[in-house]
Amino acid sequence: MKVTLSVIKADIGSLVGHHVVHPEQIRVASEKLKKAKEAGLLIDYHVTNVGDDLQLIMTHAKGIDSEEVHGLAWDTFTEVTEKVSKKLKLYAAGQDLLATAFSGNLKGMGPGIAEAEFEERISEPVIVFMADKTEPGAWNLPLYKIFADPFNTAGLVIDESLHEGFTFRVMDVYEDKVVDLHAPEELYDLLALIGTTGRYVIQSVFRRKDSLLAAVASTARLSLIAGKYVGKDDPVMFIRAQHGLPAVGEVLETFAFPHLVAGWMRGSHNGPLMPVSIKYAKCTRFDGPPRVGSLGFQLNEGKLVGPEDMFDDPAFDRAREIANKAADYIRRHGPFMPARLGPEEMEYTTLKIVLKKLESRFRLTR
Ligand code: 13P
Ligand code: 13P
Ligand code: MG
Ligand code: MG
Repeated sequence: MKVTLSVIKADIGSLVGHHVVHPEQIRVASEKLKKAKEAGLLIDYHVTNVGDDLQLIMTHAKGIDSEEVHGLAWDTFTEVTEKVSKKLKLYAAGQDLLATAFSGNLKGMGPGIAEAEFEERISEPVIVFMADKTEPGAWNLPLYKIFADPFNTAGLVIDESLHEGFTFRVMDVYEDKVVDLHAPEELYDLLALIGTTGRYVIQSVFRRKDSLLAAVASTARLSLIAGKYVGKDDPVMFIRAQHGLPAVGEVLETFAFPHLVAGWMRGSHNGPLMPVSIKYAKCTRFDGPPRVGSLGFQLNEGKLVGPEDMFDDPAFDRAREIANKAADYIRRHGPFMPARLGPEEMEYTTLKIVLKKLESRFRLTR
């Protein structure tokens, strides 16, 4: 059967600054999706959070960009904002809801969306990844390693069905354009783009031999939509695994390295992406370090069997320890680059005001 998996998220206010979603927000959102399931719109759903971002994981038969499903997500976010965030005076209530009214589709309205329609395989393991205090480009390195690096994914070398490689659809988030690049032969071109994580973002990945969809990520950049800082985008993605795709363990392996990502305090710093169980998916130190949580499911006629909390495992203790060491190291740079982002990427800056103030005092050196 064809199933659509829609992972739609928004930060609509949180408990104690930008720390964590309030349990009442999860309860009200779940209640809303339960009704939609009873009414037959959704096949199944799971509501969760990573840090201050609320994720609606939904399956249905309506295809991508469905007005009904996107409308449901919008109504859920606005209702939770009104009924819970504002009532409890949670911090930054409705933060990511940039539009005032729903207009048929969530694109450009603030929430992050990773969604795809696909034929459910005989057995369909999917892993959802959700991050807080970072941006969509944070997925570039892991997606590259999972689908193009044989030192991460053994199957690229030893499994015939992965051996032809994968196609990466890369989006230029400034120009709203995409380009398809084929690995392994275009690896260097691919890396030339996706190393610039603030601009070129992997949107989806397909298997070469039959164009089977393997991964989808959210690519919205809130600051580009709103033209000003409104919080980091805190992206989501999901990856299908096994049987001619990277194994679950190959998908997770890349997160054993807590790579540096943009975000953290005020969306203006680099920090290590720490893999954590959902229980620890709440940002503290310097509003971080940036975190990634992961839930695994088996799809069964669209039903979400699970979830499994994929990073709830001592095997990732070492990654967390490295992340904490990296956090100590980079924090000691204080306001200096590269701990602080470059001026073009900073979400908060006083540079313009300072330059204006000093304008008359700047003098030529000769
Ligand atoms: P599949 O080829 O069935 O996905 O098995 C690979 C595997 O799980 C090895 O870890
Ligand atoms: P969020 O994008 O997670 O809301 O974080 C905003 C922030 O400024 C953290 O310091
Ligand atoms: Mg927030
Ligand atoms: Mg957040």
